[in-house]
Parts: sequence; structure tokens; C-alpha cells
Amino acid sequence: MVKDRRILLAVTGGIAAYKAVYLARRLVERGADLEVIMTESARQFVGEQTFAAVAGKPVTTDLFGTDRVSPHTELGRWAELIVVAPATAASLSKLAAGLSDDLLSATLLATAAPVLLAPAMHTEMWEHPATQRNVTQLIQDGHRLIGPAVGSLAGGDEGTGRMVEPEEIVKAIEAAFAGPLSGWRVLISAGGTREPIDPVRYVGNRSSGKMGYAIAESAAARGAEVLLVTSSHLPLPAGVESFPVETAEEMADQVWRLAHTVDVAVLAAAVADFRPVAQFDSKLRRADGIPELILEPTPDILAGVTQLDDRPFVVGFAAETGSLEGARRKVTDKGVDLLVANNVSDEGSGFGTDTNRVTIMRPDGSTDEWPLLGKRQVADRLWDLVLQIRQS
Ligand code: PMT
Repeated sequence: MVKDRRILLAVTGGIAAYKAVYLARRLVERGADLEVIMTESARQFVGEQTFAAVAGKPVTTDLFGTDRVSPHTELGRWAELIVVAPATAASLSKLAAGLSDDLLSATLLATAAPVLLAPAMHTEMWEHPATQRNVTQLIQDGHRLIGPAVGSLAGGDEGTGRMVEPEEIVKAIEAAFAGPLSGWRVLISAGGTREPIDPVRYVGNRSSGKMGYAIAESAAARGAEVLLVTSSHLPLPAGVESFPVETAEEMADQVWRLAHTVDVAVLAAAVADFRPVAQFDSKLRRADGIPELILEPTPDILAGVTQLDDRPFVVGFAAETGSLEGARRKVTDKGVDLLVANNVSDEGSGFGTDTNRVTIMRPDGSTDEWPLLGKRQVADRLWDLVLQIRQS
């Protein structure tokens, strides 16, 4: 569940810093993309080389004098989750007050990512009204706390203030990533296929892959295991496994191979309906005259999925120009559970845009027209709808 997730581990100065090494190791073993930052006092307890060796990359310790131009904003924007472990009384107090006078406090102010705090301190410090005020403030600000636990503390004391065990923190991190689609395995197709004419030319279309990638990103953010069969070269969203393809045939092979292993398939790719019967071996030359291109139909990937015995819940897309009547027919012809129709001639809709205006069509004939939304918003609404239908 943490595989490929961008996690920033912030280590502050308490004896439990040594346990944060084990936490880092467990996260790396689970495939997390881990960055570590350490406060100056944390380095009194554990050397930065230890974390660098475990994370497999250098540790960032300062706001200034590093290779990064602006480490706090860079790391704050990069992280999907920040874990402060151990979180000392001083670090809680700075965060509650909104101070930003060192790398950690500045990063915590510069991020929109959720922050998980694992406090560790002596009982008296934890129970002090100032710390408790800070904790109340931090919870009000939306931060999550795990612990502290009761047990033996540095110096032989016993009481509340011990950092919870790394395994427990790993579970809390996994829970932070587990969304409403946790436990679902979903398959998404994206991009436009390319059907070769000769070694340099192809029959293609204008799909950028943005719609399919937004659907993949949204599903991963909601905790699903996401398989993306794609002909697009957009940057891969975190937590998504990609299966690159080029032609309709390759896309069909991958989609049909994976479709019976998933709970939901969302086929947003713009698949060529026709391809050249034969590919010319060498580049066609103008001097040789106008070539005759004979086309043949490509496999209907969507129809192949809905015909599977152990078929998943299937969401199809329909790209129409003008009327959506053709899309209505596709709901029944292709046997989908939901169809997302877009009029690609509409301004701001369809190919290459960051927005889309879609109409949702159901097999019972009901439809919903959604306003012009960002593609990610369309994706979020789509998953909410699929969740609602599958849970009803
Ligand atoms: O990628 P973007 O630039 O963000 O653009 C998004 C989009 C316009 C490509 C997307 O919103 C969209 O409409 N995708 C479907 C495009 C399409 O091929 O529509 P269609 O009406 O031709 O096909 C209907 C459905 O059948 C689609 O789910 C398609 O994936 C599927 N199909 C089509 C042909 C084929 N041989 N096999 C298929 O499975």
C-alpha cells in the first residue's frame, strides 16, 4: 500500500531517533519512495549516514547550502505524506505556532500533504499544559497523531511519552494511504493507439492520455491497486503500475490478459477503429507516388471485456462529435455498466484539454450531465459514482 508513495520522514532530536532508522527500513522494504530530513538535534542521536544508507539517498538537513535551491518547498510539494518520528515537544510546539525557522518547520508550513506526528518525550513534557495546548491545536489544524505510548522512557523512567513502535507507525502510514477503494484492483486504459503505416508514419488520434491518467491518479489516491495500460508518455502518477503499448492489438492483448483479474475496468483510451492491413517495410517515398492504404478493423477491446465470463464492472468512454445519440447506442451495444460520453467538439472538452464536460449514461437509460470540470475532478466524481453503485 505504500509502494511508490512519496513519503518524507522527518526525524527530530529524541532518543527514539534510533527507532526511526528501523521505520525508514520498513518503508523502503515496502517499496516507498522515501526522503529523510533531520533536525540538528536529531543528528546528536543518530548520524545522517545511517538514514542515507537505509533510504539509498542523501539526507537533507539544512535550509541553506544544499544542492536543492529551495529544499522546504521542493520537499513539501513532493511529499504525499510527511511523518515526523520522533516528534519532540519542541517540534510540536513550532508546528502549532506556525514557526518556520529551520528546515523541518519550514517544510511543514510549505506542504499541503497530510502530516503524521509520532510524539516522543518524557511524561512531564507530554502532560504539560503547553504541550497539550499544542496537541489540541495540531489536531484542529488537521494533523494526525499516533501515540505516544506508555512504557519505559530514556533515563529509566516509566510513563506516557514513548514513541509508538515503528511497525505501528507503518500501519498508520498504510491506513493514511488506504482510501475508499482500498482492496480494489482496477484497470485503466489511456492514450491514443498508433497503427503503423511504415517505419515512420502511423494512423493515430489526438488523445493525450490526460483523462485516463487522471482516472488512474484518482484511483491510486483512493487506495486502489491501479494497472494502467497506456500508449501515452505522460509522467506516471504515484502508486500506478504501467503497461506501455502502442497499437490497438497490443492494448487488446494487455487489457484482455488483465481484465479478469480486476474489480473495475475503465477504458478511456482512444483506440483506433481501423489499421492498415499491412505495414510497409521501408519509408514510403513521395517519388513513388500516392500509396494505396487498405484498412481493416481493429479488435473491439471494450466489447471483449464485457463478454468475459468473469467480467469486472466496466466503464466505457465514448468520444462523439455533436449529438450523443451514438454514445447511447454504445451503452447497450458494448454492454457496459456505465458510459462516460464526451462531445469532443465542445470547447474545453475531449482531446488534449485539462477539462472535460461529460454525460454519464447508465444501462437503464438514465443520464447525468456534469458541468465542465477539471479532468481530475471528473475522475474523482467517477470513482465516487462507481463506489456508490458497487456498494448499493
Ligand atoms: O486522452 P485525452 O486527451 O485526455 O482525451 C480524452 C478522450 C477524449 C480520449 C476520452 O475522454 C475519451 O473519450 N475516450 C474514448 C475515446 C474513444 O475511442 O471513443 P469511441 O467512442 O471511439 O470508443 C468507445 C469505447 O470503445 C471507448 O471506451 C474505447 O476505449 C473503446 N474501444 C474503441 C475502439 C476499439 N477498437 N476498442 C475499444 O475498446
